[in-house]
Amino acid sequence: MRRFVERALHKLSKLDLDQIRNILADLALENERLEVVLDSMNEGVFVVDTEGVLLLNNKAGERLLPLHSSEGENTRIWNVIDDEHIAPFVERTILDQDSVRDREFTLESSGSVRVLSISVLPLVQNGRIEGTLLHIEDISERRAKEARLRRAESLASLTTLAAGVAHEIKNPLGSIGIHLQLVNKVLDRSSSAESESLREYLDIIAEEVERLNGIVVDFLFAVRPMDIQLQDSDLNSLIEDMVEFVRYELQEADIRLTLDLDERMPSLRLDEKYFKQVLINLIKNAIHAMPEGGELRVASERRGDEVLLRVSDTGVGMNDEVIHKIFEPYYTTRDNGSGIGLTLVYKIIREHMGDIAVMSEEGKGSTFTVSLPVPQREQHLIGWNGEQS
Ligand SMILES: Nc1ncnc2c1ncn2[C@@H]1O[C@H](COP(=O)(O)OP(=O)(O)O)[C@@H](O)[C@H]1O
Ligand SMILES: [Mg+2]
Repeated sequence: MRRFVERALHKLSKLDLDQIRNILADLALENERLEVVLDSMNEGVFVVDTEGVLLLNNKAGERLLPLHSSEGENTRIWNVIDDEHIAPFVERTILDQDSVRDREFTLESSGSVRVLSISVLPLVQNGRIEGTLLHIEDISERRAKEARLRRAESLASLTTLAAGVAHEIKNPLGSIGIHLQLVNKVLDRSSSAESESLREYLDIIAEEVERLNGIVVDFLFAVRPMDIQLQDSDLNSLIEDMVEFVRYELQEADIRLTLDLDERMPSLRLDEKYFKQVLINLIKNAIHAMPEGGELRVASERRGDEVLLRVSDTGVGMNDEVIHKIFEPYYTTRDNGSGIGLTLVYKIIREHMGDIAVMSEEGKGSTFTVSLPVPQREQHLIGWNGEQS
């Protein structure tokens, strides 16, 4: 462009008015194009001459850099910049004809903090310094992202550490449990009044060991990264397996069981190991909620392109305040609770692209409803046969 202008200037006396008009129009167009490019940049640009007088800038520049309103012609840029750190930095760098890359400044404006990265670079034209380019970038978002990443990393390493400790606790707990049994056996052989009360104490210790063990197991389960392995699964038979597993416990607790399983159940993509954990945790919570006995109802239902799993009890129920907190880690209202059960349930269900909802009434009971997506393939099969509900 420049060479073109030079040539035009050279021949100016030979050009007629129309030709000059054309050249000017071209130049204006070119200028406008450059302006559009500059203004569409996210980075701020200021160009000043060797004295620091502003020659041009783009819109991002005005947005990013805090500026006073300019006082007339030939104002030096450092007199316009409204920041006590940036202004002297720019002044010094320009007057020293120095170049500085990516100097960071933190700005506080109306409660929010922004981080700017400013570069001051000499503009060299024909081997001479003709001015200075100020390049300004808002790196707040990048810095925040880095900070978040660092936090996540340190949290992850803390979690690994905690998991390691929990694992180490598990082994001696196992050993304590075994030795308790051995002590009990020895006590069996001697029968004195003392051994009776000893046995009582040992029972308490055994209970506490059991409790600690439960906490550690839950904790390990919760913090370990989940390696969910989905496979085609039959939800109904998983449910049957799990209620079988707690049948004795239900009897002991005087709880009636109702199973209401939908026979049109499609095959679901589940990680069976984890999903059993979901069922067990929900069922155990229901059992805990019915210390005086009651009814446990486990139901499955196909509804359109999702499957619902409901675990209902006629237990103590929850008020709104409790309902809001139950999925938080370590939230528990039970003396022996760990508060991890439902956290885990939620985590597992989210890994299955499902969701969970709770309905509860104090004194009446609660229903936990898990919804799971029906795999596309199965949707098609049922839809095609016209059996979809
Ligand atoms: N079926 C239920 N009925 C009443 N309250 C429940 C039920 N399930 C869960 N809760 C409440 O949610 C809390 C958290 O449950 P959970 O995460 O499984 O931890 P934990 O069972 O160790 O307390 C329980 O302490 C209880 O207050
Ligand atoms: Mg629980």
